[in-house]
Amino acid sequence: MNKLIAISGTIAATVALLSWITRPVSTIGLAQSAVPGIVDSLRAARNYASYCAGCHGEKMDAFVDRQWKHGQSQADLVRAVKEGYADEGMPAFAATFSDAEMEELAVYMRQGIDHFNQYAAAANTTPSGNIFTTGAVSVRLDTVVRGMKSVWGMAFLPDGRMLITDRSGHLYAVANNKKVTEVNGLPPILDEGQGGLMDVIIHPDFRKNKLVYLSYSAVKEDGNRKLGTTAIYRAKLEGNALVNGQVIFEAFPYSRTRHHYGSRMVFGRDGMLYFSVGERGNEKENPQTLENDLGKIHRIRDDGSVPADNPFVQTPGARPTIFSYGHRNPQGLAVHPQTGELWSHEHGPRGGDEVNIVKKGANYGWPVITYGINYNGKIISNKTAAEGMEQPVKYWIPSIAPSGMAFVQGKRYKSWEGQLLTGSLRFKYLNLSHIEGKQVTGEEMLLKNIGRLRDVRMGPDGYLYVAVENPGFVFRLLPVKNPS
Ligand code: HEC
Repeated sequence: MNKLIAISGTIAATVALLSWITRPVSTIGLAQSAVPGIVDSLRAARNYASYCAGCHGEKMDAFVDRQWKHGQSQADLVRAVKEGYADEGMPAFAATFSDAEMEELAVYMRQGIDHFNQYAAAANTTPSGNIFTTGAVSVRLDTVVRGMKSVWGMAFLPDGRMLITDRSGHLYAVANNKKVTEVNGLPPILDEGQGGLMDVIIHPDFRKNKLVYLSYSAVKEDGNRKLGTTAIYRAKLEGNALVNGQVIFEAFPYSRTRHHYGSRMVFGRDGMLYFSVGERGNEKENPQTLENDLGKIHRIRDDGSVPADNPFVQTPGARPTIFSYGHRNPQGLAVHPQTGELWSHEHGPRGGDEVNIVKKGANYGWPVITYGINYNGKIISNKTAAEGMEQPVKYWIPSIAPSGMAFVQGKRYKSWEGQLLTGSLRFKYLNLSHIEGKQVTGEEMLLKNIGRLRDVRMGPDGYLYVAVENPGFVFRLLPVKNPS
């Protein structure tokens, strides 16, 4: 069983100290004389917080997720602290710390490196055939489609067909016999950067109204520049064509960037359409204002109109479709099958991907609070918590780059029932989060090195489906008897 230590989203320093104490020192592989006692370990964490966090970030784990320039062995780390790298801006601490303190700091950082390596190892695992075993559950990959570029979303029709989106701007219908047909009648789509054709879902009453919803990057000409935004298109599926199509939502403002579109959609228990829009790479301006649509989760009626009970309909200047704000780039949305709560996840910067339970009118804090640091190592904010801002249910350090989200339902997968699945683009596996109430209590790594895992869905047939990209595949996970 590949269980990782779950990091729950509470006050960072205490957790860091506690998990330090509970981690087995023997796994670090140090000479006995250098193994610090508990008091010294606390001292290492405290020294890191006072002397290093100001430049490398409050969360040591986010710092160690890096391309090491000078090595990551115990000796390399001690040398860095002792002598510094004056040319690069790293001060020498030989006059500040005792030798024992510097050894302890290096041990402390090596624990973060070990933690990172648990994830990194997933992407380097060589799958043996198409059977994947994790704990008591083995699954065989049944190829539903191959030959795509990047399958972004999947939906299941009552007649047994599947709809899949390819980000390059194509929508396909896949029949029971796996025959693939292109569906036409799509709106103009900006297939650049992270954008393109993204999610697909069907109306809860599809049997009667045949309505399909697509999220995509819409394009607008501005002089000789192209601007893009996240939009939602609703149309009726007739045979292999979309007809009577209508853009029912367009996120304002359009922008020049080509990333952080968000774009996951789900119908809530209340019959409303919820969807995410990323902050489009402008964290300073977008997520914390209610005056634009970017960095938000929105709630609209099935025809795009604004429900009267949305949280900010009465707020002057606020965009009326906003349901929650302070988001970075959410690419997972799912309704909890028992409680009906809306769960989401979002990409953090370097470190700090989050799982959240989305509440009406709540602020999720980006970029005022975050568990991550910038890709270039610079600090975004040293605050991980603030009054009036929600704490995540869980955060990932290192960032796994989550995409797609589903709760496992039914008995087919035994111990997975009721747990939460998330695709990892970065480490190329399927993350299983153990859920107890509103908490994530542990995690397992499934389908190691299957490829950049873009989407996961529970089909109406009780099977799980996953989509991977470049090359694009859809697989159905068939449970099999444990081979051993
Ligand atoms: C004044 C800012 C500053 C402080 C304080 C600081 N560092 Fe650094 N550190 C840097 C810079 C800048 C670099 C080199 C550039 C980079 O991060 O890529 C660096 C590099 C390092 C490296 C080498 C990384 C590699 O890629 O090989 C280590 C290890 C390190 N720091 C550890 C620490 C520790 C431990 C502390 C606290 C005792 C600390 N630093 C305090 C700024 C700082």
